[in-house]
Amino acid sequence: MSEESTLVVSKIKNGTVIDHIPAGRALDILTVLNINGREGYRIAILMNVESKKLGKKDIIKIEGRMLSVEELNIVSLVAPRATINIIEDFAVITKHRVETPNYIEGVLRCPNPTCITNKRSEPIKTKFKTVSKDPIKLQCEYCGAIIAWNEIPKLIARKR
Ligand code: CTP
Ligand code: ZN
Repeated sequence: MSEESTLVVSKIKNGTVIDHIPAGRALDILTVLNINGREGYRIAILMNVESKKLGKKDIIKIEGRMLSVEELNIVSLVAPRATINIIEDFAVITKHRVETPNYIEGVLRCPNPTCITNKRSEPIKTKFKTVSKDPIKLQCEYCGAIIAWNEIPKLIARKR
């Protein structure tokens, strides 16, 4: 058989579609958004699908959930070229291109165990400077530790 096969996933009625995620990184996006699937949202995760721009890409469709601006910034740490589509009544009402902020405050843990931000007695909000955007590289303002792009998911400071 030589016919081309496609993976068809329904359009959503209301919610958020995160598109143009680098292939294979969709699960990291869910991690940084603190979504584990037990919240009850209907979620479609498409991985390694064809894309004109990227060759292959991932897509996440979350029904009934809108992302805040803060969350959009976090998405950029994993998917610097993602587009966030807000869907209302089946139509794309806004399309945001995520942008890596110059500073990231309070979102990530510092990987250096002796950093002042990891001291239990006097917790200080972390602050990282974006020293490179492509690929993303961050530097702790307190101890100088460097975070590479692939380390970001495991350094997300999870909300309780
Ligand atoms: N989408 C969806 N449900 C809708 C509307 C759109 O799941 N009711 C999805 C589309 O499947 C697509 C993304 O949201 O993955 C963006 O939709 P659209 O802007 O219509 O697609 P494109 O023009 O291809 O987007 P872009 O220009 O950003 O590549
Ligand atoms: Zn540090």
